Amino acid sequence: MENQIRPHLVLIPPPLKGHITPMLQLATILHSKGFFINIAHTYFNSPNPSNHPNFNFLPFFDGLSNTQITSKNFIDIASTLNTNCASPLKERLIHHKAKLEEHDEKIACIIYDGFFHFIDSLAKELKLPSIVFRTTSATNILTYHVCAHLHAKGYLPLQDSKSSDLVPELDILRFKDLPIFNLTNPHDFLHGISKTLSITPLGVIFNTVESLEDSSLNHLQHLYNVNLFPIGPLHMLSNESNNISILPESDRCISWLNNKARKSVLYVSLGSIASWEEKELTEMACGLVKSRQNFLWVIRPETVTEVIAWLESLSEDIKLGVAEKGCIVKWAPQSEVLAHEAVGGFWSHCGWNSTLESLCEGIPIICQPYFGDQRVNARLLSHVWKVGLEWCNVMEREEIEKVVRRLMVNQEGEELRKRAIELKHEIRLDLSGSSCDALNGLVKCILSGNV
Ligand code: UDX
Repeated sequence: MENQIRPHLVLIPPPLKGHITPMLQLATILHSKGFFINIAHTYFNSPNPSNHPNFNFLPFFDGLSNTQITSKNFIDIASTLNTNCASPLKERLIHHKAKLEEHDEKIACIIYDGFFHFIDSLAKELKLPSIVFRTTSATNILTYHVCAHLHAKGYLPLQDSKSSDLVPELDILRFKDLPIFNLTNPHDFLHGISKTLSITPLGVIFNTVESLEDSSLNHLQHLYNVNLFPIGPLHMLSNESNNISILPESDRCISWLNNKARKSVLYVSLGSIASWEEKELTEMACGLVKSRQNFLWVIRPETVTEVIAWLESLSEDIKLGVAEKGCIVKWAPQSEVLAHEAVGGFWSHCGWNSTLESLCEGIPIICQPYFGDQRVNARLLSHVWKVGLEWCNVMEREEIEKVVRRLMVNQEGEELRKRAIELKHEIRLDLSGSSCDALNGLVKCILSGNV
């Protein structure tokens, strides 16, 4: 495409860190393949254009300013955004399309996050080719189909007594691993699922690799009967991850890691939405100190407003232990941290990006899923890929001390680390194999107009 006008793509992420990051990574990769990149985004949580001088940014109204997204309001926010953004995005696209047509250019395709389910019909109305990008695992999307079946068969709400039974259609997952389990009001979630399943995409991009999710991808292929493009892990295929932090990253933690022995540090972080209560933080501090392991701990500012005051409230021996063994930061350069040779384990909420980043560096995980797809990912990590520890998930110091030592000190942890290294190599082979093929297939598909 050297001497031609670059074909235009419009990529549309929702305003959530765990979704914007992989979309920008995908944008970087597609830019390197010769496309002109437009990012249509909400004003709320908007990406910083100065970090991406090669992209054009198209902001649109969302009505969400200063909202804090938490695991409790997540479903409401998803529904509000799908309502608020429909007309402003439509206007934006119409305007941009007309501007391009003035110069005999056109939008070759829009690539939107499946979170924004309204875009399916909008693209059809505007006669724009479109592809869906799914930022969670393929297995998680499969569970949406299964949840819809369970609902249709009258299985909902799911009974606690059945929580450890395997879900018939899914083999490996138990009822309690489904994104719908434990929801006080499954109705809203089901409504969202039915909208998301009503999308009739022409193609679906997944941030995954075949060696991890072959079986779920085959199952989805059968259900959708459209082109599936498993192109992942995106952070490995692009070099974008360092530029899109939502908070200033701490450099201090890397120099702290530089002084620690190989594989001696547990990295502790819950991603960008889930958080601990203050009393849980105190139990964690005690459990971590008692485990006598080094730890690098991300506590986001909204988790506890005054970290210093909270630390001061701890008993003297725990305060000393934290100072001796720990490093606490508000936000870390996570990919760099996980790639650091001092890191030997990750205590994670199992968000999909964190899961992939950890797998790519061969780091085993203590799984503490909170909501939605995190439970699915935790089950995959512990029971399918066998690089994660399932534990009782009870936030008491003795339990925490035990699980940290299981991963960092015991033979069990050593086995998981070995397996994690094997898996890392398998994923890296896919990067230059199946993911590369899927990427070339996607480019061909867009250029041929077959989307
Ligand atoms: C959300 C949902 O919680 C998750 O379940 C879903 O799979 C994606 O959307 P989030 O909570 O942000 O994501 O978790 P995750 O997907 O793991 O993404 C977190 C991102 O923030 C990762 O890319 C991670 O590298 C980054 N991060 C996190 C940092 O860069 N620094 C930190 O200190 C913590």
